[in-house]
Amino acid sequence: MNFELTEEQKLVQRTAREAADRVLAPRAAARDVSCEFPAAELAELARLDLLAIAVDAAHGGGGLGAVAYSLAMQELARGDASVAVAVSVTNMVAELIANHGTAAQIERWVPGLASGAHVCGAFVLSEPEAGSDPAALRTSATKTPAGWRLSGTKQWITNGGRAGVLVVWAVTDPSAGNRGITAFLVPGDAKGMSVARLEEKLGLHGSATAQLVLDGVEVGEDAVLGAPGRGFALAMTALDGGRIGIASQAIGIARGALQAAVTYAGERRTFGEPIIKHQAVGAMLADAATWLDAATLMTLRAAHAKEAGQPFSQLAAMAKLFATEHAWKICDIALQVHGGYGYVRDFPVERALRDVRVTRIYEGTSEIQRIVIARNLLRAVS
Ligand code: CAA
Repeated sequence: MNFELTEEQKLVQRTAREAADRVLAPRAAARDVSCEFPAAELAELARLDLLAIAVDAAHGGGGLGAVAYSLAMQELARGDASVAVAVSVTNMVAELIANHGTAAQIERWVPGLASGAHVCGAFVLSEPEAGSDPAALRTSATKTPAGWRLSGTKQWITNGGRAGVLVVWAVTDPSAGNRGITAFLVPGDAKGMSVARLEEKLGLHGSATAQLVLDGVEVGEDAVLGAPGRGFALAMTALDGGRIGIASQAIGIARGALQAAVTYAGERRTFGEPIIKHQAVGAMLADAATWLDAATLMTLRAAHAKEAGQPFSQLAAMAKLFATEHAWKICDIALQVHGGYGYVRDFPVERALRDVRVTRIYEGTSEIQRIVIARNLLRAVS
């Protein structure tokens, strides 16, 4: 077992760490108030090769793997979790197209995602009545002489209204269940696609979360990603990898909050000494640091398995479940350690607690991760 990072992985980690401190952190609190989309920040991260980390260098990607991606996500989320989720989804979309697209689709979309020319990507699966159960989605794609016509409403779309390219899932054969779902590549400026609503959220205020309406959006035959009817499996494969990204995001948010809490607890004095010397406070911080280390190891192990071409669905689900549930607890401890100061905006832990909450929900709730894990446990004994 080798816990050492390669030189390339260390370089990506350092690059993302410096970008988090220089590009993201200075305006993170302001973005939280203004809800401004981080277009300039994404452009800068594209220049640093962080938007398609695991994509082949021949297609403009970083040519690295899931471990480098996780390390980068951890660092960026520490700087600003809103930007990190935009980066995560863009990496997911770039990888999905690079791995499953035709040569023409790759050439059309992947270099532009990597370079920032398409700003970002969007993963358009969920619907108002189909979140945890995407096989129940209702957006339809009907055949036309030139290709397909897409109609329906999509919900909770990260980067909605901003993405230059969207992967949209739609039903092409209503009689075939999950095998009747197809993935389509849709340009961001496609006629008939509009933002019906931008959500007002508890946290991640710099991230655009949209309800999208597709009203007879026409795409060509060449917009089908993979094969007709194979869309559901593509979504599941992409989400397995995406869950490593969200686990990493949660770790990054929690790491920032814990660092702030330890600094505060070392400086703030009550009863004549720094509060970290009071056992009740020290013990909370010790637990938080232990959970954070466990979450990091689990997530890097899942990333390592993905990179090695091993089965990693269960590992990714376990990493996301543990990392996000504990990141939430860590942020709560960080806030508690700050006392009243933690509850106001003067310190970053208030934002961390709001930002981290959604990691237990998106890209599969904690309850869905437990379903994935339990099904894998059963499969292993049957
Ligand atoms: N990899 C590849 N294929 C998979 C797979 C995986 N991990 N999991 C399932 N499949 C395949 C199965 O092999 C099966 O294929 P066949 O029909 O060919 O046999 C097919 O998919 C159906 O499998 P299941 O019967 O297991 O599917 P299910 O309907 O019971 O659902 C589930 C399984 C894992 C619970 C799934 O519904 C799920 O992951 N739900 C959560 C959805 C989710 O995470 N949504 C997040 C939205 S995206 C988002 O949040 C993005 C954002 O912007 C931040």
